[in-house]
Order: sequence, then C-alpha cells, then structure tokens
Amino acid sequence: MTMRKSKSPYLILAIDTSCDETSVAVTRDDWVLANVVASQVNFHREYGGVVPNLAKRKHLEFIGPAIKEALWRAHLKSIDQVDSLAVTVGPGLAPALEVGVKTAKNLALKYKKPLITINHMEGHLLSSLAKNSQGNRGVKFQFPVLGLLVSGGHTQLVLANGFGDYLILGETRDDAAGEAFDKVAKMLDLGYPGGPILTEMAKKGKPKYDLPVPMEKKPGLDFSFSGLKTACLYFLKDIDLSKKPRQFYYDFAASFQYVVAQALIIRLQRALKKYPVKQLFLGGGVINNVYIRQQIRKTAKEFKTETHIPYTDKMLSDNAAMISVAAYYQAKRGDFVKDIKSIDRLPGLCF
Ligand code: KG4
Ligand code: ZN
Repeated sequence: MTMRKSKSPYLILAIDTSCDETSVAVTRDDWVLANVVASQVNFHREYGGVVPNLAKRKHLEFIGPAIKEALWRAHLKSIDQVDSLAVTVGPGLAPALEVGVKTAKNLALKYKKPLITINHMEGHLLSSLAKNSQGNRGVKFQFPVLGLLVSGGHTQLVLANGFGDYLILGETRDDAAGEAFDKVAKMLDLGYPGGPILTEMAKKGKPKYDLPVPMEKKPGLDFSFSGLKTACLYFLKDIDLSKKPRQFYYDFAASFQYVVAQALIIRLQRALKKYPVKQLFLGGGVINNVYIRQQIRKTAKEFKTETHIPYTDKMLSDNAAMISVAAYYQAKRGDFVKDIKSIDRLPGLCF
C-alpha cells in the first residue's frame, strides 16, 4: 500500500465485468457522472443461465464502446482527464473478470494512471453512498453498520467497522438467494433470469403452499438455499404444470418469495440482536424484490435500525458506479496497486 493522498475532486473511471453485465462508470468523488451498463442477459437467456465463455466474448465486444459512452456521458474527452482507474478483481466468473482486469491494467499503463482494485461485494455494500447531480445525496455511514447483500452469486451479512474493515458474519453455505430464484423459475419453465419473473408473478399470488424456511431452526448467521430448491423440485415433481392455471404459478411464486424473505429476516433479527447498529445497508439484485425489501425494512425498524438502499434500483444490480464509489474511499486511504503488471483476476475473492 502506498500512501498517496487523493486530491479533491477526484475523478475515477471504473470497470466491472464480474458476471454478465459489462459496466463502466465515471465518478467525481462519490458523485456518479456516468454509469453505463451493457447487459448480456438476452444472449444468455437461451441457455437458461450465464455461460462463462460467452460472457467473456460479449465483454470483449462491449467494453470499448462502454468506456467511450461513459466518458461521453461524463463530458470527458479522454481517459487522460481521470485521476485513477478502478476495476473489480473478484469475486465473479474468471473469464468475465479477466476482460475487465486486462482492460484496466492496459489503460492504467498506457495513460500512466494509478489503479485501484475492488472487491465486487464491497461495491454492493457501499452502493448506498453514491450521490448524483439530480439531487440524490446518498447517505453517510455511522460505523459500525450492517450490510445485507443478496445477489445471484452471494448472500452475505457483513459488519463494517470502517471503510475497508469488514467482517463477514454469515454467508450462504451453498446456493445464493438469487440463484435459488433463477433455478426455481427454470423448474417452472419461466425463463431467465428468474428473480424478476417470479417477483412479478408473486404480486398476483398468495403464499398458500407450505415450503420449508431454509435453516429455520439452525443457529448462527449462515444461509442455505439448496434445501429449498430441492423442496421445490419435490413439490413440483408430481404436478403436471401444463394442466395448472396461471394462478398456481402466482401462488407458488408468492410461497417461494415468502420463505426466502423469512430465511433472510430470521438471520437479520439474530444479527441485529447481537450487533444493534443504527444503519443497515442493502445491496444485490434480489433487493429489487419489493416484498423482500419491505420485510427487511420492517424487521430492521423493530430494532430501531434505519435501512438504506442506493438512490436508484439500477445500482442494486451489477454496475460499475458502486465500484467507482468504493474506489473513491480506497483512494482516500491511499490504497493503490503497487505493481500494476502483477495483478490478476481473483474469482474466489472474499471480504
Ligand atoms: O447483484 P446481481 O445483479 O448480480 C450478482 O452479483 O449476482 O444479482 C443478480 C440476481 C439474479 O439471480 C436475479 O434473478 C436476481 O438478482 N434478481 C431478483 C430480482 N431482480 C434480480 N431476484 C428477486 N427479485 C427481483 N426483482
Ligand atoms: Zn453483484
């Protein structure tokens, strides 16, 4: 770590290619000037999930135009005008991460800019700090704070004692919550990604089917969603879906959504009992689910804890603005890459 103090205002161009979104953002301090997200979801849909090498190919195709677009939206002419580059090094899909990491390295070397490497989950955790020029001011962390990060790859409860000082209190032992949404939607032949589809269906249904709440009686703060997935598989095994009315799908989606929310809030209650913090920060694609979000908010309120989400739902799902904001706080600590040539993607990176 070099002790290079960042100046203010500080311009960062950040890249995230951790999964199936090619994203490039430009921030001035913690203000978002541009947040370009080129989604590949239409290319992966026919395979029912993200295909790593297809993701790599699409990242290679999209990254150049996404950088140009982000610079243009931020009213910048060249990368020369930014102070630093930042990139997600992990966790994520190795072939996908590789594109962003190589691009950021090459640009940092070409333009002689410092480089900041970011953990994708830190980006989700800090996403609520982002501000924008339309009057969205973000929030300030009053440490210690809790983070509940619920995405397609992770389900984590994190205690943050300061910027860069994170402790994972609990995480999934198998599937992530978003992954469970996607797999259950696949069982019902509903398409990919399953989260938004099931969420829409659940709005029209009632949670009348009895599915097990994952790890309901198990102590601790870890999550597990593979048992719920298996329970859904058994439940649906003897059912001829072609004979079922749409209302069956709606009610099943509502029942599934209900138990996922229960699994999250049981752990959240435990965490808040043990760590009675003032603020809870949410991140990850599954938080787009308004029912789950409301249940979390309600639970936190019972503990007099405020719940925060980013100023736009776009920043809950994968995006580079959250990476750029995390990089700004890292730059303030003077934490830059020492030897740019030596960095590599870290697909299994932990907090
Ligand atoms: O955070 P994210 O964009 O990417 C990862 O880092 O994984 O999360 C993607 C996940 C997918 O599993 C997707 O199905 C889920 O978030 N998701 C949702 C909703 N929108 C996206 N899950 C539940 N309800 C939603 N509305
Ligand atoms: Zn993510």
